[in-house]
Amino acid sequence: MARQMLVVGNWKMNGLSDDIPEIVAISEASKQFADVETGLCLPATLIDRAARAAPGFAIGGQDVDKAEKGAHTGCVSTAMLKDAGSSMVIVGHSERREAQRESDEDVRAKAAAALSAGLLTILCIGESLAVREGGGAIPTVLRQLEASFPREVSIVNLAVAYEPIWAIGTGRTATAEDIGAMHSAIRAKLGELSGEDAEPVRILYGGSVKPDNAGEIFAVGDVDGALVGGASLKAADFVPIIEAATLKA
Ligand code: PGA
Repeated sequence: MARQMLVVGNWKMNGLSDDIPEIVAISEASKQFADVETGLCLPATLIDRAARAAPGFAIGGQDVDKAEKGAHTGCVSTAMLKDAGSSMVIVGHSERREAQRESDEDVRAKAAAALSAGLLTILCIGESLAVREGGGAIPTVLRQLEASFPREVSIVNLAVAYEPIWAIGTGRTATAEDIGAMHSAIRAKLGELSGEDAEPVRILYGGSVKPDNAGEIFAVGDVDGALVGGASLKAADFVPIIEAATLKA
């Protein structure tokens, strides 16, 4: 099945009002590549302003709470994200799994809440360097996928991002061969978990995707796009990555 390429930026804890023009520049430039779906997941504080400044461009959050509302100090709900102008959200990023001690169960509940709210939901999975070097990357990631995978909710708006932890922000990327092997294992696992319903689910690669390696990564079978951190902060870096995705779109 042909899946539309999806290239999403993850700004992490970066971005102030001064950066709105950069978001507008990315949004404007992305219009040239209409066959690639694109967007930026921003700090919660910027979502509303960015959505107003770049109408029609997809803006998202980087995390969401599983609860609808109530006594959850500091948390943001799916309704709040949507109200601020978000159409998507990342769940289970390794930085949150590690620093905020998010379990697979937490991530699964967040993914279910986000999908039920109609948000494009990017579920992150990935192995540590020790696991990769020990030779257990594929079974570990598949176990994580199964344990974080939302149940009893439509997955039509789900995307999975394979992000090897050791490749995030390090300048190291997995080899095309390793990415291909992992993505095809994830594709098979998605089929096992959800049968035909999993067909539209896109599998993104993340971890030091840059303008100079994006083309090679996108050429790998079963790669349906990218989740981009550092290189999504500037239009000069991010736009060429979106452009590289058009070759496969
Ligand atoms: P990076 O981050 O592109 O800076 O490695 C990717 C991510 O964490 O989503």
